[in-house]
Amino acid sequence: MNQNPTLIDSPEQLRAMVKVQRGKDHKIALVPTMGALHEGHLALVRQARSLAQTVIVSIFVNPTQFAPNEDFSRYPRTLDRDTELLAGLADVIYVPAVDAMYPKGFATKIVLEGPALGLESDFRPHFFSGVAIVVSKLFLQSGADYALFGEKDYQQLKVVTRLAADLDIPIQIVPGETVRESDGLALSSRNRYLSPDERAIAPVIHQSLVQAAADIRTGTEPGIATERASKAISAAGLRVDYVAARHAEDLSAPTPGVPLRLLAAAWIGGTRLIDNVPV
Ligand code: PAF
Repeated sequence: MNQNPTLIDSPEQLRAMVKVQRGKDHKIALVPTMGALHEGHLALVRQARSLAQTVIVSIFVNPTQFAPNEDFSRYPRTLDRDTELLAGLADVIYVPAVDAMYPKGFATKIVLEGPALGLESDFRPHFFSGVAIVVSKLFLQSGADYALFGEKDYQQLKVVTRLAADLDIPIQIVPGETVRESDGLALSSRNRYLSPDERAIAPVIHQSLVQAAADIRTGTEPGIATERASKAISAAGLRVDYVAARHAEDLSAPTPGVPLRLLAAAWIGGTRLIDNVPV
């Protein structure tokens, strides 16, 4: 591995590079990101390195996964800093331009069901179809053996896993554990939007989910535990989109005895944060 990752900005160049690495019998791992990298991303990149000899990090703020009223234009773009952080960790940083990913005349959409239904989709109906199209393109452009996705975006992880299986894309989707601040706040590129006061109350999402998981383990009905968590988050001054218990694997509505995951999304001022915990 070179100390400084190679910057690649076109699908053609990416394919050519991957062909050379394959000729050396390298396994290829891809870490798809939108940049504004933090320790959560870097943990995924290190995990990728343990799986493959060639590690590609894509940085692309994907317009199709943002609604017109969302934060696409103000989403942090920090390529110089990201490049520094990836020195010695990644081999390639793939930074395609928007018109390389979505050339004039682009007309394909992916319609998702199963784990994409409900939760995020109730509040961001455009989101998973945008994620699905961009990750499918990244998988096919890179021909990677592995793609790593953080569990922080748990529904996204499940949607992408289903997508790759359903479309027979020969790639293994590998989950990475959520990295947290010492007070429990999950690392997120959007945490940098928080004012100091907002940052101080943000851990209430994780704390309330952990409490709900503990309550369920000691016999509280999941619906009651998540309702309590929702009230605790609201009481701290956040606006809750959802707090829900779902089947941990396919995100269907929970039935007695199935493994559960608790998921939440809430607004602190103008910033929307998500988190989840196992039960
Ligand atoms: O999780 C993200 O940062 C994005 O949704 C992803 C997977 C890079 C697709 O744009």
